[in-house]
Amino acid sequence: MSLIHFDYSNALIPQYGITQEGLARLEDRLSASRQEVLDDVQLFHSGSTPAEYKQPLDAGFTDLPQRLLKEYRAAQKDSELGQILSRTKELADKVDRVVVLGIGGSYMGAKALMESCCQPFFNERSRGERGGYPRIYFEGNNVDNDASAGLLDLLGNGNPVAKEERWGLVVISKSGGTLETAAAFRQFFRALKGSLGEDAEQVADYVIPITGQTGKLFDLAAALGCDRPFSVPDGVGGRFSILSAVGLVPAALMGLDVVKLLEGAVAMTDHFAKAEPKDNSILHYVGVMYLLEQWRGVHTRVLSMWSKALESAGLWYDQLLAESLGKDLRGALPLTVVNTRDLHSRAQQHQEGRRDKVYANVIVGQWRYAPVPIGNSEHNQDQLNELADKTLPDIMSAAIAGTNQAYLEDQRPTVDLHLPKVDEYTLGQFFQFMMLATVVEGRLLAMNPYGQPGVEAYKKNMNRILREK
Ligand code: PA5
Repeated sequence: MSLIHFDYSNALIPQYGITQEGLARLEDRLSASRQEVLDDVQLFHSGSTPAEYKQPLDAGFTDLPQRLLKEYRAAQKDSELGQILSRTKELADKVDRVVVLGIGGSYMGAKALMESCCQPFFNERSRGERGGYPRIYFEGNNVDNDASAGLLDLLGNGNPVAKEERWGLVVISKSGGTLETAAAFRQFFRALKGSLGEDAEQVADYVIPITGQTGKLFDLAAALGCDRPFSVPDGVGGRFSILSAVGLVPAALMGLDVVKLLEGAVAMTDHFAKAEPKDNSILHYVGVMYLLEQWRGVHTRVLSMWSKALESAGLWYDQLLAESLGKDLRGALPLTVVNTRDLHSRAQQHQEGRRDKVYANVIVGQWRYAPVPIGNSEHNQDQLNELADKTLPDIMSAAIAGTNQAYLEDQRPTVDLHLPKVDEYTLGQFFQFMMLATVVEGRLLAMNPYGQPGVEAYKKNMNRILREK
């Protein structure tokens, strides 16, 4: 099966781009950073990291897909993945809807998987069309009163519901103490219990918790009588946890092929570890982004998603880049756009604004559905009959080529990430590509890509303000 292809030829431009020689000169440093990332995994598994050295060292994500698949192949239903498949199947058989509670790294990956790999109107489809899988909703990712109240309303506001309308909860928090998620869990758990009517005592059977191996949520889940929580493994940071139970449980509930997802990630890790620097897409991506920033002051990375299905995957990357490298007064600013939609809102700035941006196009090779043609009409006032045979993918391709050409003519650098199609295997590759690229860049910048100390400040203030009142 094919890998994501990275093309940086449109970044090789004289005055505002980079050069092939510059990238070649960086090869040794990129190679050394790759080695450091690979060594970090060994160091992490050895358990002998010196107390203050490289802390936190959340390198566990790197080989997590390999480890999960290996264990699954050896132990099947007794493995972590086997347990994920059986417990999600049990819940899916009992309910028509599942609410997934979580925020940041405990939410964005699952949302990205739903948008990219499920049918676009998944929740609107009948149970049969959904393959027997429940509708999926996301909450606990904000403290927005009306969003929560609206969903609770949809779920019956804690009043008993008919058996075929029962719903369940997946609550995800690595730390177990995030206020947004904890508050939502309390509210939705109460409503869930009420919705079960005379079966309220069995409420814990309708909840799947995912959390660290200790902490408030771990203790609460035990007190509520839930089965042992799935764990966010030690050494896997929140925004790097998409390929752990954090992403796999919701994905399995959506009926996605989680084995393919992990296999895609393994294929990308293999490419990263084995391909020569001159043929290595991840090292090329890092090299191009790094040189643009160092040489040209390109501090904004626009991720242009040429598919609506990829918007949340872009927002997942926003978090990954911003929290990993936005430190020490450094780090590029990520910005996800969905085209052609955002060409009608941001293109002016991108075409003629400050020269501080690179555009990374994410381009889909093959669409899920057969191409839809414009078609002929007896009313040709819109003058589209001459384009009647053109399909939406034809228009999309023309828009991509036209936009790249316009940027190139003005010496604005672009790069292309070609996704063969949008499915679990490719998404697994995409997530792993971006996570590996981010940590390699961190090591290249001599910055620890793990941890997010800056996020604590708002939390501390919010909690103090709340408790003062
Ligand atoms: O990357 C991270 O660790 C964070 O962004 C977390 O994902 C986010 O803050 C949610 O934390 P938790 O899973 O502990 O509730």
